[in-house]
Amino acid sequence: MAGLSKIRYEENPAIHADRIGAEPKVMRYFVAELQNRLVGFALLILSEPRDWTDAHKLFPLIVDVFVAEEDRRRGIGRKLIYAVEQDAHKAGCLEIYLSVEPEENEPAMRLYERLGYERMQNEPYDNDWSYVDSTGKTHTGHERLIDMKKRLQ
Ligand SMILES: CC(C)(COP(=O)(O)OP(=O)(O)OC[C@H]1O[C@@H](n2cnc3c(N)ncnc32)[C@H](O)[C@@H]1OP(=O)(O)O)[C@@H](O)C(=O)NCCC(=O)NCCS
Repeated sequence: MAGLSKIRYEENPAIHADRIGAEPKVMRYFVAELQNRLVGFALLILSEPRDWTDAHKLFPLIVDVFVAEEDRRRGIGRKLIYAVEQDAHKAGCLEIYLSVEPEENEPAMRLYERLGYERMQNEPYDNDWSYVDSTGKTHTGHERLIDMKKRLQ
């Protein structure tokens, strides 16, 4: 857990704990290791978690793909996404979705397009989300998203 918190959410380790402890039919957490070091993670949501108020209703959904800054551009993000896709396919999913903030994160969007994801909207839409973690702390955010989808085979 400490290894994951070092990469992201240092102030909120419950975020990682909740994902690790989740019911695998609902969500599955993937971590990337490099030379015995945790360097990234990605979350696969297979069905809507009870504590979500997110406007998203697209499942399965890949959220929060993250690679430690010093370990980026080595193919880790790509491998993480591939591992998530394979797992979703094994679970019987024929399509997979993700959302990206094109105005904030053009490189991620380009990466997803190269991996075969197609945009579902031409223009970003506004999305307010909130999530209450297992310690009772509420996390909220606002983002402008484009959804993307890919057929799995
Ligand atoms: C988006 C993110 C997960 C990508 O992770 P990554 O490990 O850097 O991804 P990859 O290395 O697989 O591919 C990213 C780029 O590196 C390039 N690359 C891959 N292997 C490489 C290598 N061995 N040498 C040089 N470049 C390489 C890819 O072609 C790609 O090129 P681009 O910069 O032109 O897009 C990472 O940048 C990140 O954590 N960003 C912050 C969080 C975030 O934005 N997440 C996405 C939310 S939607």
